[in-house]
This record gives sequence, C-alpha cells and structure tokens, in this order.
Amino acid sequence: MGIKETIKALEVIGINELYLSRKLKEEKVETKKEKQEDRKELLKKLYEKWKDCTRCDLHKSRTQVVPGDGNPYSPLVFVGEAPGEEEDRQGRPFVGRAGQLLNRLIKEVLGMEREEVYITNVCKCRPPGNRKPTPIEMRACSPYLKEEIKIIQPKVICCLGATAGEGVLGKSLKITKVRGQVFVYPFNPKIKVFLTYHPAYVLRNPKEEETLIKDFMKLKELISQ
Ligand code: URA
Repeated sequence: MGIKETIKALEVIGINELYLSRKLKEEKVETKKEKQEDRKELLKKLYEKWKDCTRCDLHKSRTQVVPGDGNPYSPLVFVGEAPGEEEDRQGRPFVGRAGQLLNRLIKEVLGMEREEVYITNVCKCRPPGNRKPTPIEMRACSPYLKEEIKIIQPKVICCLGATAGEGVLGKSLKITKVRGQVFVYPFNPKIKVFLTYHPAYVLRNPKEEETLIKDFMKLKELISQ
C-alpha cells in the first residue's frame, strides 16, 4: 500500500495525526543531501561532455571551455554573453571587471552572496578580442545552456544584455526596449526571464548604473514572489 492509501485507510479508522519517527526524519535529510549532490553531479557530467567541444570555431582560440558556476539549487540564474580574457584564463564566468560589478549588485541590492546564485554564459568559449558571438556560435552552444537550465530549474533567469536575452529567448531583441521586462522561458513556462543591461555596458556608460540598480531591485521582488 502506498503512503496516500495508508493515510486514507488510517483516516477511516479515526487516526488523523501522524508523527515522523527519528529514523524517517534522518532518511529524509539523507535524501535531501543526495539530491543536492545530484545537480552538482549532473552539471559535472554535462561539463565533461562539452569540455573538448569543437562544434564551432571558438575552440581554435580558447584556452578552455568556461562552465557555469555557483549554487545549482539557486532560484536565480544569471546568463551573460561569453567569457572574456580573465574568464578564459581562470575557467570561471564573470571574474573580470564586469564580474566585480555583478558581485557588488548581488550583495548590495539582492542581499545575497555570489555563491548563492548560479552564473553562466550563452557561449562557453571566449570569442577572440571579446567580440560578440556570432549566431552560428550561439546556436552551437545553445544545447549546453538549455541542459544547464533543465538541471537547475530556477525561478528566474536574469539575462545580462541583448546577446544573453537572445540566447535564452531565441529571438532578436533591442535591450533598451526590453530591459526591466519579464518574459517566459520558452522551454519551461514556470521559469521567468528578466532582462537587464550587461554590467560591462554600464562600466562603459556609468550614467546607466542607476537603471541597473533599479532593475536589480525588481529582480529581488521577482525572486521573492
Ligand atoms: N562578460 C560575459 O558576458 N561573461 C563573462 O563571463 C564575463 C564577461
């Protein structure tokens, strides 16, 4: 007999309250721990599958494939464009100047630590000279991002800049028009997609920092809904 049927049968004979034994509680904690290892393990396997990828020409100039980084159980995933010079060197996303601004916003506006969120990119290899990835490169890498999102199942994906938005939503867009807006993730309608400026754009245009802060305040609200 399954647990639901057991509870129904107990209700019939007048038992309406059940107490979990210590053993069952311990088993529950254990299952939770195992589950935590699951997503990390799945992401590791995914990276193993892609770490020698040659699906596009970026493999010729990259130092290494840069996988996503952070808490795979986070309700929030940030998606950037592609690794820059420092990310290509260190093998971690957003560790350069744009990453420092992102870390600051995560801490000061969202009240979270960087380690509490998950951060990744549309393209996992650095385009030479930090140019924008081409549609061919974005398409070649898209199954990696799709699989990452499927594993993490966040509440909200925050796209940093137009390229990230295009990679996640699969359509071209103008960031000045759509920033601050909420969309639905095409592969899972339960996931919200929020768009804002790329921190590197704000570093080049400091007067836009206020807009980015306002967007992060909206993002905070979205996560807590
Ligand atoms: N810019 C991005 O879009 N991604 C990074 O990882 C770093 C800078």
